[in-house]
Amino acid sequence: MSRVALPSPAGWRPMEAEDLPAVMALSERVHPTFHEGEAMFLDRLRLFPEGSLVLAHADGALAAYAIAYPVHRFAPPPLDTVLGTLPADADALYLHDVAVAPEWRGHGLAEPAIRRLLTLAEPFGAAVLVSVYGTWPFWARFGFARVDDPALAPKLAGYGEGAVFMLRESMKEG
Ligand SMILES: CC(C)(COP(=O)(O)OP(=O)(O)OC[C@H]1O[C@@H](n2cnc3c(N)ncnc32)[C@H](O)[C@@H]1OP(=O)(O)O)[C@@H](O)C(=O)NCCC(=O)NCCS
Repeated sequence: MSRVALPSPAGWRPMEAEDLPAVMALSERVHPTFHEGEAMFLDRLRLFPEGSLVLAHADGALAAYAIAYPVHRFAPPPLDTVLGTLPADADALYLHDVAVAPEWRGHGLAEPAIRRLLTLAEPFGAAVLVSVYGTWPFWARFGFARVDDPALAPKLAGYGEGAVFMLRESMKEG
């Protein structure tokens, strides 16, 4: 396959239901040990469409996606679950996933989506996430801090060794 030009970081747009096959295919590539089905992706898209974003390349291939939605800050839902409704008294935006295709990493493509999600987090007072694959220093650049509380261990159980719960209060500059 010939190497195509770098996708534009300005190309992030809202996810559509039609994007889901490509989103799920990228999810399987990036997270081969964390399978999540179409029902989960559709659920989040319906419940909080502004939190689901994609970065498509000019050739139509998907370079990246991001998914976030409101939660109770220390109780994000387990992987691959359908929620049906969002908590009315949510106190954080949960960055469920930000995934860049392996061939497009290291070019700052995730940053515009993360900035957009952090803006969406402001009314909730915080953003939270579960860092995997040793990415916690990457998230620290955006103002996320580790929450090393043993009480969160059950929430992290499905994420494998090295999962780290992280919180960013909206007041903080990232
Ligand atoms: C974490 C992730 C979203 C960052 O996206 P990105 O657009 O590549 O971000 P950046 O370009 O700012 O690079 C961040 C760091 O990734 C690392 N990186 C650079 N090139 C890389 C490559 N080809 N492959 C893997 N990591 C690379 C570098 O450490 C870089 O830090 P640096 O700026 O100090 O060099 C992306 O690496 C990814 O999708 N990872 C797999 C999924 C994941 O871990 N998501 C987060 C779950 S909490």
